[in-house]
Amino acid sequence: MSTATPDPARLPIAVFDSGVGGLSILRALVAHLPHEHFLYVADNAWLPYGARSQEEIQQRLLIITQHLLERGIKALVIACNTATAAAIDHIRACFPELIVVGVEPAIKPACALTRSGVVGVLATEHTVASARFQNLIRQYAQGVQVIGQACPGWVEFVESGNPDATAAQDRVRPQIDILLSAGADVLVLGCTHYPFLEPAIRSIAEAVTIIETGMPVARQVQRLLEERQLLTMHAHPALDFFTTAPGKAEVFAHLLGDTVRLQSLEI
Ligand code: DGL
Repeated sequence: MSTATPDPARLPIAVFDSGVGGLSILRALVAHLPHEHFLYVADNAWLPYGARSQEEIQQRLLIITQHLLERGIKALVIACNTATAAAIDHIRACFPELIVVGVEPAIKPACALTRSGVVGVLATEHTVASARFQNLIRQYAQGVQVIGQACPGWVEFVESGNPDATAAQDRVRPQIDILLSAGADVLVLGCTHYPFLEPAIRSIAEAVTIIETGMPVARQVQRLLEERQLLTMHAHPALDFFTTAPGKAEVFAHLLGDTVRLQSLEI
C-alpha cells in the first residue's frame, strides 16, 4: 500500500524565544501570514539567555532545532536577538535545508531616521557584546553614533507579568535616561521582550522614535516561503504554545490578551 507524501507547505512554522519575548514577533507573523500554523516555543527553563555564553546558546538551540525538525516544521524563526547573535550561523550550517530567519537590532533604519546623529540600542548584555552587533554598526552606522545599552533585569520584569505601569517605568528609566542624556533621538528595541515595555519607555522618552522588528521579520518569512513555494492557506490556521518550564500560562495570556493552552516541552 502506498502512503501519500505529506505536503511540506502544510507543516507549521516554529517561532522560538528564550521566553515570552518572541510573542512580539509572533503577533506580527500572525497578522501578516494569517493562514499559517505557528508553533511557539519558549525556553523558559533556560532563561535569561542574555547572560549566557555563545557556546551554551548554540548547544541549546541545536537540541531544540533537532527536536522541532523531528516533529516536522517548514521554517524556524529565531525570535530572539540574543539567540540570533549567538547561534544563527551555527544553526544554518547544521541545517542547510531549513529556512531560518533571525531577529537583529534595526540599526540600518534607525541610522536613516536619526536627526541628532545618535541612536540608542536597548538589548541584552550578550547582544551588545556580540560580534554580529559590532558588524551591524560597522555596516550601517557611517557618521552616526550608535550606543548599545545593556538592560539587565528587563527580560525578567516582562517574564514576571507585572502589569504595574509605575514599576515598569522605574525599571526602564535608568537606561533610557543614559541614552537621552547622550542625545539619542531614535531608540531601537534590540530584544524581543522590550516591545512589551514600550508604553513605559514612551512615557519617559516622549519625543523619540522607537523601532521594533516584528513586521520586517514577518515579510522576510513570507518572501522565503514564497521562494520555495511553501506558503499555505490552512482552512483552520493554528497556534500551539510550548514552554520548557511550567507556570507561565498567566503571563502568556496577559501578553496575548487571550487564554492559551500552554503545553510542556521536556528538553
Ligand atoms: N528575547 C531575547 C532577545 O530578543 C532575550 C531574552 C533573554 O535574555 O533570555 O534578546
